[in-house]
Amino acid sequence: MAVEHHVRSLDLAPGGRLRIEWAENDMPVLRQIRQRFEREKPLKGLRIAACLHVTTETANLVHTLQAGGAEVVLTASNPLSTQDDVAASLVAHYEIPVYAIKGEDNRTYYEHLQRALDHQPHITMDDGADLVSELHKNRTELLDGVIGGTEETTTGVIRLRAMAADGALRFPVIAVNDSMTKHMFDNRYGTGQSTIDGIVRATNLLLAGRTVVVGGYGWCSRGIAMRARGMGANVIVTEVDPLKALEATMDGYRVMPMIEAAPQGDVFVTSTGDINVIDRQHFEVMKDGAVVCNSGHFNVEVNIPALESLAVAPPRRVRPYVDQYVLRDGRRIHLLGEGRLINLAAAEGHPASVMDMSFANQALAAEYMVKHHDTLQNNVYRVPQDVDLEIARLKLEAMGIRIDTLTEEQIRYLNQWQEGT
Ligand SMILES: NC(=O)c1ccc[n+]([C@@H]2O[C@H](COP(=O)([O-])OP(=O)(O)OC[C@H]3O[C@@H](n4cnc5c(N)ncnc54)[C@H](O)[C@@H]3O)[C@@H](O)[C@H]2O)c1
Repeated sequence: MAVEHHVRSLDLAPGGRLRIEWAENDMPVLRQIRQRFEREKPLKGLRIAACLHVTTETANLVHTLQAGGAEVVLTASNPLSTQDDVAASLVAHYEIPVYAIKGEDNRTYYEHLQRALDHQPHITMDDGADLVSELHKNRTELLDGVIGGTEETTTGVIRLRAMAADGALRFPVIAVNDSMTKHMFDNRYGTGQSTIDGIVRATNLLLAGRTVVVGGYGWCSRGIAMRARGMGANVIVTEVDPLKALEATMDGYRVMPMIEAAPQGDVFVTSTGDINVIDRQHFEVMKDGAVVCNSGHFNVEVNIPALESLAVAPPRRVRPYVDQYVLRDGRRIHLLGEGRLINLAAAEGHPASVMDMSFANQALAAEYMVKHHDTLQNNVYRVPQDVDLEIARLKLEAMGIRIDTLTEEQIRYLNQWQEGT
């Protein structure tokens, strides 16, 4: 008898299992943590509700938490990011209750969150803070049972910090995103590669020689700009932060306001965590055939209602993940993946090698929460720096890369102030 679930079809499970095992090959740090968790069972007796993108890498995290003794339930953190074969395999082979179907509507998405919360979690594991938000808004009767949470992404951390500042947060949360071994690699190299992958899979466009406009120059957008340039594109960056804009300029990109970039771009990608970065006035001056997509957490970075109101008819799906809007003057704008994170909608999300570090942080953050929740306030915390450094050390070791260590003389030198030229 399968555990409780709502997934596309359990018939997809065998394919999912193969892909989960493929990802595991590239997750050596998480594998080591799993082996220790199997011996030590640091999460014994805990119920964890995870609201994460249901991907092969997440399956390996969930399996690790389970090895640590936790009862885990998984729900999707985005309606379009679920890999249905992975969801099926988690139910069929790993006995994890999963509520996630790729393409589910918003109502089903929220019902799934509720079903995950029905398991009365001690720990929440979020990607975008939707579980924490639901708990605080609609399921307050469960709050006393929660010892803490973890948060995977920038947008979630911003929401949680706003809750803490309002005095609204009722348990401590660890901001996994703030670990260096998370955002330096996952947000930059993971989002960079997989966003290009999503655009190319959806459109099969040649990027060489085209103008790609990247909204933002934060961790994710920096990676996207770097990889778009690597494909031969002419990259324009838009920013609101003068420091980031200066950095983009000195990294060799053209920097300008979106309204100036709009008529020049062939492909537009946002990853800012902000709203309406691409807005009505930008659509009004875009080229015929422009491709628009988003890799930020929520589908608000592109003003889709404005695009709909400019179009003469509802969009036509011309390829999977490509909706064509025809404007009054006949120009066609192509929106990818309904404005949702394109790397997860049209591709497979980040490669396992970076999720290895992100999810090592998640697993160790859950363990830390169990040990230390009594001493933490209702606030947002970072993963301790020694844990972050240990993950980097293990990753280097797994990659077969050795580095120097400080000598006693160097340690003394670096800690003194007397010696100059
Ligand atoms: N697609 C994925 O798999 C994935 C992975 C990690 C993070 N994310 C999400 O991507 C988003 C960005 O994350 P990040 O870590 O790069 O954040 P970040 O804070 O490092 O960068 C965001 C940048 O956007 C800029 N910005 C804000 N408003 C803007 C505007 N109107 N126009 C131009 N630039 C603007 C900010 O100045 C900042 O430099 C978040 O929503 C995050 O949750 C997505």
